[in-house]
Amino acid sequence: MQLKMFRCRICGETYLGYEEPGNCPFCGAHVEFLVDPAEYDASVNRVELTETERGDLDSSIELERANTRFYLGMAERKDNDTLRSAYKRLAKVEAEHCSVFCKLAGIPKPADLLEPGETTGSWAGDIAESLARENRATTLYANFAARATSPRLREVWEAVSAVEADHITLDELAMTYI
Ligand SMILES: [Fe+2]
Ligand SMILES: [Fe+2]
Repeated sequence: MQLKMFRCRICGETYLGYEEPGNCPFCGAHVEFLVDPAEYDASVNRVELTETERGDLDSSIELERANTRFYLGMAERKDNDTLRSAYKRLAKVEAEHCSVFCKLAGIPKPADLLEPGETTGSWAGDIAESLARENRATTLYANFAARATSPRLREVWEAVSAVEADHITLDELAMTYI
């Protein structure tokens, strides 16, 4: 078995592994976005933004910031280590999305991105809230992708929309661990 490097076209991170993972371990993008590092174009995020795209990127950054902080808040709870671990990982994925959107907007990451936020106070309540957030994100990004004129922005919003849909499955699985 030989170790190989894979690079994600969506978040730009490099993964080292024996086999191609089913999706990016960092941003969750599906396997079709994982490429040979030699094929990765480092200038991929240099895009001209229309007014609408700029506004949609701002909304995406705010959404990812809020969701990262919500999941970090969930991950602070000590009474269920399975769920604490799952939502800590999810927070990192959403933070990665925030970082991608900031790169595309050409702005720094929000200063409070990694500060745990308020939650509902119970796992059941938080998972229900998470489901609502993930459903909203999936739909919103699909809409942003549909009206984007830049192929790169369309690609990123479509990819991240699919990842947020995967998070709905995570919430459904998480409910069985309460
Ligand atoms: Fe990625
Ligand atoms: Fe998500």
